[in-house]
Amino acid sequence: MKLSTWFAAGLFTAVALVSTAVIAQQDPIAARKDLMKANGRHAGVIVKMVKGEEPFDAAKVKAAFDQWDDTAAKFGALFPDNSKDGDTRALPVIWSDRAKFDAAIAKFKKDVDDNRAKAMSGADGLKVALAAVGKNCSDCHEAFRKPQ
Ligand code: HEC
Repeated sequence: MKLSTWFAAGLFTAVALVSTAVIAQQDPIAARKDLMKANGRHAGVIVKMVKGEEPFDAAKVKAAFDQWDDTAAKFGALFPDNSKDGDTRALPVIWSDRAKFDAAIAKFKKDVDDNRAKAMSGADGLKVALAAVGKNCSDCHEAFRKPQ
């Protein structure tokens, strides 16, 4: 690739990063739902692997764990006071018991990190790891998300 192309690609990435940050500020509800949608997409791939519907693929496992880690890092900042109402299923308890919500995010991150190596080790390890990480998805939704 020519040097100028590298520069252009780098600039594009920088612009993309800035606009993500701006969108998160302007519309935290959309930003947090986007993160969660990506969680769901990755979880779907992993579930298929565990069921044997797709071959074990370490790169896809890594991508899922990276994405979940990224969610854990960003999610907490996407619940400012002005995002309680609107097109959201977030429950008011997120704001009234913020410590409990933060603890749920921290536990999610810990379980993602603690199970990453196991998940990468092969299909059997992935099954155990998915159960441990997946429990965070359902526990947090039960406590902090309105049923549909
Ligand atoms: C710490 C709490 C927490 C954890 C952990 C968590 N979620 Fe969520 N999730 C939420 C909340 C809160 C919402 C509702 C967001 C809103 O509507 O503003 C949500 C929404 C969603 C949605 C719907 C997004 C949409 O389009 O509206 C999906 C899909 C989802 N989560 C998948 C997952 C998966 C898969 C995992 C585990 C890998 C996970 N979540 C882990 C709290 C969590």
